[in-house]
Amino acid sequence: MAQLFRPEANARFRVGIIVALPAAIGAVGVVFAYNHSDSAWDVGQTVSQPIPFRHDIHAGQLGVDCRYCHNSVERASFAGMPSAQTCMTCHSQVLAGASVLEPVRTSLALDQPIIWNSIHQLPSYARFHHGIHVSKGVACETCHGEVWTMAQTRKVETMSMGWCLDCHRNPAPYLRPPEAVHAIGWTPDNPAELINLLKAYNIATERLTNCSTCHY
Ligand code: HEC
Ligand code: HEC
Ligand code: HEC
Ligand code: HEC
Ligand code: HEC
Repeated sequence: MAQLFRPEANARFRVGIIVALPAAIGAVGVVFAYNHSDSAWDVGQTVSQPIPFRHDIHAGQLGVDCRYCHNSVERASFAGMPSAQTCMTCHSQVLAGASVLEPVRTSLALDQPIIWNSIHQLPSYARFHHGIHVSKGVACETCHGEVWTMAQTRKVETMSMGWCLDCHRNPAPYLRPPEAVHAIGWTPDNPAELINLLKAYNIATERLTNCSTCHY
């Protein structure tokens, strides 16, 4: 039979396959990794705000409790955002005429809320509820990181379905006893005892991975 390809052509073809195949797999891998990487979920990115509010000053240095400003977080699906009145409890005295606080004074004068740009926002087809998490021993810090150290607020977790499920499949290691939920930087003395909290909080893990738990 006549040779269609010279032997070296055949070899080149084979080398081509050997090189191209991993490259192709690699390319798919890159796309996959990107879709699953933090940057695809805006992790670490900050958002511009009408007022340069700083959690590190307010929640860190001054030690104001998260719930003072996000005051529906223990009962509602939304954490709630502070009103201008809340800011003014202090800023009617502290930095009273400061230009950075102009939007606070305007909001108060016009009786309109301050429009903060959101950092965490799930798509509308996914359901979340702050109250249930906080009341069953999941701390702000577990999902939002060390907010009290942040000069500019940023997302520290993807908030993707995979991230939700990591905890929903096995929540015990992430739980805190009720008295420790708002203790900044809390770690358990004895991690083995966290498993008892599943029972104490009456958490039924089977249900937590059902599609309908998080999707309408
Ligand atoms: C189990 C994870 C989790 C815990 C615990 C948690 N959050 Fe959130 N937080 C989220 C998610 C997810 C969103 C986005 C919600 C949405 O888009 O519906 C969010 C959004 C927010 C927002 C934006 C406004 C809103 O409600 O959408 C604020 C403020 C907030 N969280 C504060 C807090 C504070 C304060 C605590 C603790 C008292 C806390 N969160 C505990 C996951 C969590
Ligand atoms: C518990 C009292 C208190 C509350 C409530 C409060 N602040 Fe402050 N805030 C302070 C103090 C104290 C400082 C530090 C003042 C200084 O540096 O001289 C400060 C500083 C600031 C600064 C200046 C930050 C900088 O870069 O130095 C801004 C902006 C600010 N607050 C905005 C707000 C907004 C917006 C709210 C409402 C969401 C608010 N604050 C609620 C006490 C408060
Ligand atoms: C003095 C009021 C105040 C306190 C105390 C406070 N926050 Fe906030 N928080 C704000 C304001 C104002 C914003 C909007 C500006 C920003 O994103 O920085 C905000 C934004 C947030 C967001 C992002 C919301 C979004 O758009 O997705 C999270 C998460 C959050 N806070 C968590 C916390 C946690 C956790 C604590 C306690 C460690 C805390 N906050 C304490 C006033 C406060
Ligand atoms: C660190 C752990 C943790 C993370 C992360 C987490 N959850 Fe949960 N979630 C829980 C626990 C614990 C409960 C309470 C279960 C119970 O009451 O039996 C819960 C309950 C819920 C419920 C109420 C279920 C019901 O019907 O009672 C919803 C909805 C929910 N989570 C959605 C989410 C979504 C969406 C995310 C991701 C954006 C998320 N959760 C991330 C631990 C977590
Ligand atoms: C613990 C909460 C939770 C459970 C349980 C859950 N999801 Fe999700 N799902 C989410 C969140 C949050 C998002 C939005 C973020 C994302 O796209 O990952 C999402 C996104 C999705 C998307 C859109 C993905 C995309 O790339 O656009 C689909 C499809 C989906 N879920 C299907 C399912 C199905 C099917 C189940 C049951 C086997 C399920 N989910 C169970 C929380 C959950």
